[in-house]
Amino acid sequence: MTLSRSIKACLAGAVLALPAGAAHAQTELRVYISSQHRPEVWRQAFDMYEQQNPDVKLVIETGGNTSELQAQYLNTVMTAKDPSLDVMILDVIRPAQFAAAGWTVPFNDTVDDPAAFMGRYLPAYAEADQVDGKIVALPAFADAMFLYYRKDLLEKHGVEPPKTWDELVAAAQKITAAEGDGDLQGLSFQGKAIEGAVCTFLLPYWSEGRQLVEDGKLSFDREAATRALALWKGFVDQGVAKKNIAEVATDDTRKEFQAGDVVFAVNWSYAWDRFQGEDSAVKDKVGVAVLPAVAGGENATCLGGWQWGVSAFSEHGEEAQEFVEWLSGPEVSEFMAINASLLPAFPEVYTDPDVVKAVPWFADARAVVEKAKARPVTPRYNEVSEIIRTTVNAVLAGAATPEEGAAQMESRLRRVLR
Ligand code: GLC
Repeated sequence: MTLSRSIKACLAGAVLALPAGAAHAQTELRVYISSQHRPEVWRQAFDMYEQQNPDVKLVIETGGNTSELQAQYLNTVMTAKDPSLDVMILDVIRPAQFAAAGWTVPFNDTVDDPAAFMGRYLPAYAEADQVDGKIVALPAFADAMFLYYRKDLLEKHGVEPPKTWDELVAAAQKITAAEGDGDLQGLSFQGKAIEGAVCTFLLPYWSEGRQLVEDGKLSFDREAATRALALWKGFVDQGVAKKNIAEVATDDTRKEFQAGDVVFAVNWSYAWDRFQGEDSAVKDKVGVAVLPAVAGGENATCLGGWQWGVSAFSEHGEEAQEFVEWLSGPEVSEFMAINASLLPAFPEVYTDPDVVKAVPWFADARAVVEKAKARPVTPRYNEVSEIIRTTVNAVLAGAATPEEGAAQMESRLRRVLR
């Protein structure tokens, strides 16, 4: 325990002993959380911390409903060296970039045994959060993409959850035709030019066993890329996905499925808890499966997840780090799994009895997260992302054919990743 911690513990004790309303010094920590990822549930966890640490006041700031909007906001704050944010949640693709820019404070000197400390997490996150031997962030939660489906409709029409995308098309067509409801979509996925569309592209590409980057170099298979783009565009052309899928972001898919307007949806783990909410039209009607593979291919999903970073410009760095160490611990991980269906970054929390009671499919989800594939790791990831997501979007909007899209993607990626 550091000196400041014991001082703080004494202070906390002193404060508790004071009569109600007595003034005491409080440190205010401002924490940035993406609005999509349940700030109101994090707030409950924060309340627990405040109760245990009366000398800390936690204020949540939210904004940006997509990963790149959040990154844009944080880039502005960090570029301005603005001290008003102390802690920020970062998509798994960003700690390396933030560390390279010197925007986060390393944890190596604040944890007792860095290797053992990081060894508690699933390896993918321990890896993403350490750059050149420095612990630059700590895991908030894990993530992967899954196939959500309407269990009630599949049962009603005698359809099994699809194992391939072709089976999904057949299932969606059968169910939507039989239901005769023109508003019922077969499949919702992310076609907007957001970070999620990078994963959209990579799912069938990876399913063919292809990689985008190998040994730091581009290994682009143009034909596989063409087929990947054609697969998604094909869903639109076959009427399985709606015509304006190019406008659909992650939380739009979540809302449409939750409203009962979709048979199959590609989405991340947070969606589950929303589907099970009292305001959901699909409560108790939802199944979750691994994503389908391309015919003859293997299942592939995209590794997601979010991390807590402490701002290098925070004026309360020490308190912020202490808070983040607690926040990224197993207790909070379990709380967020139970109350917001955010996947744990700790392997043992997946099978915790309370977690499995609240979210039964989490017991099988660890294997999916462990097998999930990471988006390319490169300091120029922002450019790679922009090239892929705008191309996916252009193909889905009908502005480019899959062949043109794949060719453009290749030549643009070649300029970034030589
Ligand atoms: C989820 C994932 C994140 C990913 C994002 C894309 O939030 O956890 O890693 O980048 O979706 O939309």
